[in-house]
Amino acid sequence: MANDVSPMRKPVIVGNWKLYKTQQEAREFFAAFKPLVTAAKHCEIVVAPPFTAIAVCVEVVRGSSIGIAAQDVYWANEGAFTGEVSPRMLIEAGCRAVIIAHSERRQFFGETDESANRKVKAALAVGLTPILCVGETLGEREAGSTKKILERQFRGSLAALTPAEFSRIIMAYEPVWAIGTGRTATPEVAAEAHKFLRDLAAGTFTAEYAACLRILYGGSVKPENIKGLMAQAEIDGALVGGASLDPEHFAAIVNY
Ligand code: 13P
Repeated sequence: MANDVSPMRKPVIVGNWKLYKTQQEAREFFAAFKPLVTAAKHCEIVVAPPFTAIAVCVEVVRGSSIGIAAQDVYWANEGAFTGEVSPRMLIEAGCRAVIIAHSERRQFFGETDESANRKVKAALAVGLTPILCVGETLGEREAGSTKKILERQFRGSLAALTPAEFSRIIMAYEPVWAIGTGRTATPEVAAEAHKFLRDLAAGTFTAEYAACLRILYGGSVKPENIKGLMAQAEIDGALVGGASLDPEHFAAIVNY
């Protein structure tokens, strides 16, 4: 998952399983999925199962190039924080990456830019790749506030990162109005937001760091629309929810 400073941005396709799949279902998924993606060398493949299935997934993908990520993390490595899981525990379990500040965490579980920032730093400190999510709601888009919201989320979630730390993160632009609604952002609308985020990265760090930042699009990505999205130079991969639950659909997305 190393996101070294280099002009090449290797695409990343991430499946976010959300609150789906038991250990048994995860085993069945990979038994069907792995043979379908053995030839896929053009992109990195990452799957984020629920916490309880992480160990099983790590075991069944061993020897393949598929990486396993968590869907959230707490920022302390240990302590009296009932219900939380630490960065160190994720590393030990075999995770390479962790999704941070998904819109569902922001919307239903009180995630803020400040908590996201603490999580990003804690993940980086143990060598996990943070996949930081940003994105506006429908109301914010209709009010013309998309850029203001993205800038606030970018600055708040990435506050006080060194350039070296920044070079190790992946961003995901997920417009909330496109998540689980079947309403994908058009490739052009997504690319415009990605360009805005990359410009922010250039202004905050340097043009070189911005050029290396991988920005994934998420929101109703399907086998039918992945090609058009990936044809945009600004789009470096996808964060896939519903369509990542089906091995054939997810493989078709990986093999775009
Ligand atoms: P859907 O692909 O189901 O719209 O979900 C997108 C998402 O939230 C991925 O993190």
